Amino acid sequence: MISLRDQGWWILKRGIVTICLLIAWVWTTFGDERDDYQVRLRELGADPAAVEAVVATLRELLEKGPSEARVGALDWLLKDPKARDPSLAPLILQRVHDQDKEVRWRAIRNLRWLSEEAGNGDALQQLIQFAQGPDKSDRLTALAVIRQAVESRSSLSRSPAIHSLLLSLLRHSDGETAAEAIRLAHAIEDLKGHPQFLSALDDLIGSDEPRIREAVSQIFLARLEALQKETEKLVQSLQKAAEKDPALKTKIAQLTRERESAHGPAQPLLVTIPPDAPDLTFFAAFVQPALAEPLREADGKACVSCHQSDGAGRYRLQPPNAAGQFSLAATLFNYQATLPWVRPKGPGARSLPQILQEPHGGVGPLWAQEQNIARQLFEAWVSGEKLDASIRNLLDFRFFVQTIQPLLVESGEDKASCAQCHNTHAVFNIRPPAPDGTWTLADARHNYASALKVVNPDDPMGSLLVKKPISAREGSPDTGLAHAGGIRWSQRKDSPQWRALAQWVSKTLVE
Ligand code: HEC
Ligand code: HEC
Repeated sequence: MISLRDQGWWILKRGIVTICLLIAWVWTTFGDERDDYQVRLRELGADPAAVEAVVATLRELLEKGPSEARVGALDWLLKDPKARDPSLAPLILQRVHDQDKEVRWRAIRNLRWLSEEAGNGDALQQLIQFAQGPDKSDRLTALAVIRQAVESRSSLSRSPAIHSLLLSLLRHSDGETAAEAIRLAHAIEDLKGHPQFLSALDDLIGSDEPRIREAVSQIFLARLEALQKETEKLVQSLQKAAEKDPALKTKIAQLTRERESAHGPAQPLLVTIPPDAPDLTFFAAFVQPALAEPLREADGKACVSCHQSDGAGRYRLQPPNAAGQFSLAATLFNYQATLPWVRPKGPGARSLPQILQEPHGGVGPLWAQEQNIARQLFEAWVSGEKLDASIRNLLDFRFFVQTIQPLLVESGEDKASCAQCHNTHAVFNIRPPAPDGTWTLADARHNYASALKVVNPDDPMGSLLVKKPISAREGSPDTGLAHAGGIRWSQRKDSPQWRALAQWVSKTLVE
């Protein structure tokens, strides 16, 4: 039996519990931020009195301090989580409009913890406003804050407001802003595959702004790599089943071949060149240019016109640029693409000259005559001829043969020609033509290689080849050189011969 006293006690106890619950409810509803802060302080093992003193000082500096003091206070807050009292929020939100940009940028950086730790919605709004604002440095500061959040995967990086902000910035008129928004959106899992993001990327890859193009192509390259890995994995898995199922094997072979021909290189790029492979430099100087030369027998088309990555057969070439130069990468590619047609293996396999002997691709025969220069150069290459030069220093061989070599045999006022004096010279060694005035292809190649030795690719106009023939025996101040052969053309730099030399040395074959 319960006595009256007991009953009174029970009622009292119930009352206390109710009040406590009520207080707890009020506290959790209205005092959330402060409470979180107190919990954090305890976790950080902070001494409440000391923290209070620090916060009071920071408050005073933010309110009344000069610029440097505000900068210091805001820096302090960035470094010290203990001092991040949510009650400082109004002061920080005031400072984001400070006249002094050093103060302003630091206040903007403080918006991150205000939003993430103190749950301050105004801070998030402010951050978004700066990221969309007209001032570029404020905008990039706000984006840097978002970058920090994305990199540490903290709550701001999951905020829907931040996601729609980034989507809205993808096409920003300022390239740097747009590029950063693109990179950030790609770094966020939820945005990576967002239809709006993907369709923006498709448009932006063609942007005139290099920073945007770079940001987008980085993303595409990474995806391509992932796709290739995935494809390889699938093919490997399928191959296990194909061992027992020949039909499947054919299907796989068919699909992978189709993929190769649809997406370019039929041959993978070799990393190393086999030791018995013909000389790369010889290829770049003599063979590659012939592949880009318009052919009379093909209505002015060149090999590279029909054999580009989306072009004919299994032979794929990369074309030169508008100035007729090949990049080093294109040169390596073309070299490796041509190797399989040098010494073809297997029954019925034909070498490149054999293929060209007969009409092919609706044109030709190409390179048919034995004296055909391209064919002779190709055969010299295949037979193991080398060119001792650096691949980046090569100059146009055709121009040399047509324009430079003839002027090396022109007689000067003293009745001597470059070739006469220079046919015994060790470095710039020139072989004279046959009595009919023509050179063998081998001699022309020798003369070309000798001329390359007196050209300085880093300073073409400083080359001995262009300076020596306009230098006097006793020395010329303008060239800083003496030439035992004397000045060869009295008009010097105004002579057509000198201008031809200058033109030749100023454009390399491989850029
Ligand atoms: C008018 C376009 C055209 C031109 C120009 C052309 N080709 Fe071709 N070539 C083709 C086509 C189409 C094929 C594949 C079908 C065939 O063999 O007829 C082919 C096939 C080849 C093949 C064999 C590839 C295979 O898949 O078997 C080689 C090698 C080749 N060409 C080299 C050259 C070279 C070298 C030149 C320049 C001297 C050249 N082609 C000029 C259209 C052309
Ligand atoms: C009368 C003879 C003579 C003629 C003609 C002559 N040279 Fe020379 N050249 C020399 C001699 C000797 C040297 C080596 C001494 C020197 O550097 O002056 C030389 C040096 C050079 C060198 C430097 C080679 C090196 O290895 O240092 C170049 C380049 C050169 N000549 C270019 C020409 C050109 C181009 C012509 C024609 C337009 C020409 N020379 C005509 C006699 C001649």
